[in-house]
Order: sequence, then structure tokens, then C-alpha cells
Amino acid sequence: MELTLQAPLDMHLHLRDTEMLENIAQASTHTFSGAIVMPNLVPPVSSKEEVIAYKERIMDSIGNENFIPYMTLFFKPDYDRVFLETIREKITAIKLYPAGITTNSEGGVSGFDVEELRPALEAMSDLNIPLCVHGETNGFVMDREAEFVSIYEKLAAAFPKLKIIMEHITTKESVAALDRFENLYATITIHHLLITLDDVAGGMLQPHLFCKPIAKRPEDKEALLKVALAAHPKVMFGSDSAPHPRHAKENCGCAAGVFTAPIALQLLVELFEKHHALDNLQAFVSDNAQQIYGVTPLNKTVTLEKKPFKVPTDYNGVVPMYAGEEIAYSIKEAK
Ligand code: NCD
Ligand code: ZN
Repeated sequence: MELTLQAPLDMHLHLRDTEMLENIAQASTHTFSGAIVMPNLVPPVSSKEEVIAYKERIMDSIGNENFIPYMTLFFKPDYDRVFLETIREKITAIKLYPAGITTNSEGGVSGFDVEELRPALEAMSDLNIPLCVHGETNGFVMDREAEFVSIYEKLAAAFPKLKIIMEHITTKESVAALDRFENLYATITIHHLLITLDDVAGGMLQPHLFCKPIAKRPEDKEALLKVALAAHPKVMFGSDSAPHPRHAKENCGCAAGVFTAPIALQLLVELFEKHHALDNLQAFVSDNAQQIYGVTPLNKTVTLEKKPFKVPTDYNGVVPMYAGEEIAYSIKEAK
């Protein structure tokens, strides 16, 4: 059994910087045609110079792989129209983090007052810059995303022409919101389609499955599977592959993030095959994203074969999901 995907896209990726960037970039650039690159570096990518310089560092680490890093900027409420006009051509989206909600998000937004956000969001809407959002409140950990849905609704209603991407959704509440507002879209990770909180903390604690947002309940996973397997036109694949060095994960005080980049496509094929939905995988992993973002990716043809692949225990010091385990599909060729 073989399957070929055209121009797979990862619409939510952490490529990091410096040594980590050098160590892990290839895990994405080999098999994906492009990715939305998150801006949560230290300090966050928030000026034109920083976007340009970060893109150059990424291009330097890619070697001769065919890959487009779709750059993002870290949202600040004080971005004005003039600034956004000057940066428009350098970025594909702007990422909004609630202050302090996840890795390196301290400079994010507090409060979500529509009038305070209006100048920046109206300018983004006029300039057709999508807003990617990490949608969690600072409430009880299992309720954070569901609580944030009312903020999504407030923003979607106040800025009806602004494309709002609900990043890495994990709940049935977020899935339900998709169809209530024309301008709400979502990315879904592979790990949230495969695991629930039980896999993270139901037995021995699994630090390599710990991420933000935390995996939720079985019924949430079912709701995500339903729209992903159907390739609902408003959802797209975004791995949220978020590498941390082993010592930062296997530590008292575990960093949030699951590293899936090197096995994401293999796991997606296995999952879609299991649910008799392989016909929809191309749309979920590329075509929907092209429509939503209006991007035309570089040609890249990735062929997967049903041949067991033993997941390495370590990629240059980063432990992937399913480290040391066997998965059903392998990458046969990417060109
Ligand atoms: C991400 C990271 O490590 O940068 N961590 C995570 O758990 N997903 C940040 C994020 O996307 O929340
Ligand atoms: Zn992320």
C-alpha cells in the first residue's frame, strides 16, 4: 500500500532558533512543502527586521530542500496601520498569544478589550492579514479552551472580514464554533487526534505528550476526528510540533510541547486509513490550507508506504512522540 501527497503543509510549526533550529529543521523541511512558522522566540519576532533576519536564519538551515517558511509576527496591540502596511509582504499571518499562557508568551495580550484591539485588528482585516490565536484563558486547565470560545465569538463578530484561525483546537466547543462564524477557521494537530488526557496522565506521567493546550476528553477527540477526517473546509493540519531539549522535558517542571514533525505524515496516513478517510487526507494536509490562506506552495511529492518504521528515540537531543515505538507507515520518497 502506497500513498502520494502533493505539497503537504504544516500550518502551525515551531522551528525555534540557533542550534535547535539547525538540529530539527530538516525533520519538517524534508517532507513538508511549507509551514507557518511561529514567532515565540526569545525575544518574540515583533519587528520587520526580526522577521527578515529570522527568515534568513531559517533559509540558511534548510540546505537545498524545497520549503517555504511562511513567516508570522507576534501580535502586539500597538501595531498600527503604517507599520502593518510596511510589513505586509514579509508575513503570512500574525499570531496572538494571551499573556503568559504558553512557552515564551509573556509579551502577549491581557484582557481582550475589543476597542483596545480595534486599530490593529481593523488594519489587519483591511490588509487581509490572518490572525492566528492561541485560544486559552487562564482558568482551570481543562476548561481554558472552552472558556476562550466566547472571546473568539466576540472577535469574529467585531471583525467579520478578519480571518481568525483557532490554533491547535482540542475541544468539541471549538469545533462547534467553526460553523457559527464565517471567518473562524482552525488548525488541528496529529497528537490531539490520537491522544486524550488519559495518555498524558492516566498512568505513568508522559512528559513527551505534555503540551498546551493539554489533550482533553474522549468526546473532544471524537469531535476533532469528525472534522479532520471529513477534511471540513475550515480545518487544516498544523502539527504544533514544539521541540524542547530532553532535559527540559524530563525535568521537575516539564516544558510544554510535543515533537511530532518527523512522524506527522506517517501518523496521519495511518489514522486516515484506519478510518477509511484516505481520500480526504490531501485536503486536510494541504488543499484546505491553500484555500484558506490563499497560498500556492512549492511542488513537493511525498510518497508513503505501509512499512513499519521504528521511531528513533532521539533526534539530536529531542525526544519525538512515540520514541522507540513502531508505527505502520514510512516515508518512501520526498522530492
Ligand atoms: C509551544 C512551544 O513550546 O513553543 N508549546 C506547546 O505546548 N504547544 C507553544 C504553543 O504553541 O503553545
Ligand atoms: Zn504552537
